[in-house]
Amino acid sequence: MDPISLSAALASFTERWSPRIVTTVNDYDVRVAKVEGEHLWHVHDLTDEFFLVLEGELHISLRETEGERTVVLPKGSVFTVPRGTEHKPYAPEATAILVFEPTGTLTVGDRHDEVPDHVDATTGHALS
Ligand code: NI
Repeated sequence: MDPISLSAALASFTERWSPRIVTTVNDYDVRVAKVEGEHLWHVHDLTDEFFLVLEGELHISLRETEGERTVVLPKGSVFTVPRGTEHKPYAPEATAILVFEPTGTLTVGDRHDEVPDHVDATTGHALS
């Protein structure tokens, strides 16, 4: 295992909403993704999902027991979506994120709205 440059990893692909697995930690993946526009409402029943914004700005809408709200994460911010919370990420411009979640976690969760063509429903791709 050699050190991995996140900027080189991000430069190695162009697809939006299609995470690449940069490394693993125990049974968790560290994934990076380029995102822009809307993702979709989905929920991970069994796992929290950690986000770190590397470039740009990520919005995450949340449906909580108190109602719906949207958190805004500027570059350098972290946020954890709790398990069982419906959420929909959105990026108003080209944005790069790092996600930390158990290996095998599907990007569209265990339950979700219809997956639009511009979203990759995946457990993450290897870096090429
Ligand atoms: Ni999610």
